Amino acid sequence: MIWNASIVLCNWIDQHIDTKNTNVLELGAGCGLPGIHCALNGANETFLTDLEEELHYPTSLTAEFNIKIKPLKWGRDNSVIFKNECGHLFDLVLASDCVSTDVYGRSSWHFLCDTVDELLSPNGRLLVCSVRRPNDGLEEFLQLLKETLAHIELVSTDGDVEIHECRRFKLL
Ligand SMILES: C[S@@+](CC[C@H](N)C(=O)[O-])C[C@H]1O[C@@H](n2cnc3c(N)ncnc32)[C@H](O)[C@@H]1O
Repeated sequence: MIWNASIVLCNWIDQHIDTKNTNVLELGAGCGLPGIHCALNGANETFLTDLEEELHYPTSLTAEFNIKIKPLKWGRDNSVIFKNECGHLFDLVLASDCVSTDVYGRSSWHFLCDTVDELLSPNGRLLVCSVRRPNDGLEEFLQLLKETLAHIELVSTDGDVEIHECRRFKLL
């Protein structure tokens, strides 16, 4: 299933980010539309990750566009293992519609935050794209991210979809 957030995120990336030569990591990728979009637009390497049972991608594009498919359940320990296996950090981390407090619970925020903290490079950016829903807990999740990474900015509102950009420092 393709969620609206991932389509909005693709359009925003198209207009605002040069993905050429970047290392991209998509978390909770589902069908992986934003990650694949970055790969087709010149990313150096793109990892699509999700729970192992959710990884059902056709392999036709993977070699040509250097797309790698790998299970990653959010959390500090899994992310350290993932980092060691990949051998590097990521310039661009994507999380599209991954903050679903009703479905995944509040504890999922901490696991997701820890994963970003382990895998985002010092100069990297995280894009969190969310469909706003009543009591979605997004503000609390963003507060946690801010405490972990330092800087967060709302960069787009498109109907009920918001994109927040997070970095380890504030750009002047
Ligand atoms: C609502 S779907 C969004 C899928 C996709 N990013 C999109 O926008 O279309 C949320 C995704 O997060 C993944 N997910 C949930 N909890 C997770 C966890 N603890 N670790 C890794 N992935 C998780 C789910 O398997 C699912 O694919």
